[in-house]
Amino acid sequence: MRALVAVGACYLDAILTVHHYPDEDEKLRASSISRRRGGNVMNSLEVLQQLFECRSSTNNQPSVPLYAVAVLPARSSVAIEEIKASLGSSVGIQHCIHREDCSEPASSYIIKSQSTGSRTIVNYNELLEMTTEEFIQTADKLPDGPKWFHFEGRIPEVTLQCIQYLRRNYPDHKVSVELEKPGRAGLQELATEADVVFYSKSWAQGNGHQSAEELLQEQCHLTPQASILCCTWGEKGAVGLDKQREIYIHSSASTDPQHPIVDTIGAGDTFIAGMLYAFLSHGDNFNLQRAMDFANRLAGRKVTQEGFGGLGTAVAHYL
Ligand code: FRU
Repeated sequence: MRALVAVGACYLDAILTVHHYPDEDEKLRASSISRRRGGNVMNSLEVLQQLFECRSSTNNQPSVPLYAVAVLPARSSVAIEEIKASLGSSVGIQHCIHREDCSEPASSYIIKSQSTGSRTIVNYNELLEMTTEEFIQTADKLPDGPKWFHFEGRIPEVTLQCIQYLRRNYPDHKVSVELEKPGRAGLQELATEADVVFYSKSWAQGNGHQSAEELLQEQCHLTPQASILCCTWGEKGAVGLDKQREIYIHSSASTDPQHPIVDTIGAGDTFIAGMLYAFLSHGDNFNLQRAMDFANRLAGRKVTQEGFGGLGTAVAHYL
């Protein structure tokens, strides 16, 4: 089974829950505040480790090694303990890159509106970004064996070189990439190199598409290496494209009127965790419809609770 190496940013999220999103220059009282570790790939890893732990304990299946590659502050900083504790022992952070002259991790300030369910994110990061050389050193130090590299689509030029390095030196590794933020130049080139691409609704809309199908029809011709493309569309669920079989798969969002939506922060990251789980655990028996239905079930469950705790147990029956 492949090990997963997830490459992206690690944040500490400060989340203010408000009744409605404020107008500029308005004064508004929040109904609660919470802090937790965030970051797209970190959120996905937090969910994945629960899924694999549950799978090993219920089905006696071997666990999958999970590694994070992110830029973090100094090893001695308070934040490192918090980050370690938030991920649990089965996510390896020993391959993260530390900026020893910084004590603060990247931070996100998130306004979560109860009336619309939106989550507006403002972030600040003074850590120097990973360089291609740092990634190469890290990739070469990882234990031998087949791997799945999942990249958050950020710092596009560096990420592109990282993927190209893997292609040249480790042609058997698989590569997936998430394109989330519209308006960030260079992300399309990442999709061109990847085996699997995850697109967000905001990326699709930012590129002028009205639906997930429309985006995938266009992307089908721009992703020569890819076998699977997948686009999430909020309450409309997700659409996947199996490029080899030329089949579009629709999977509805999983909602339960008994359990209202309380926290959409990281819903997309949870969906991706569900998909990566299916790729890693089902191997040749991978079935796109089943994988997307599972990922939607997992994300649908996530939005009904704060944070990511207990998600593995909640879906144990479907693992
Ligand atoms: C949610 C999230 C937050 C983080 C922000 C970074 O998807 O990963 O946890 O602060 O996005 O963009």
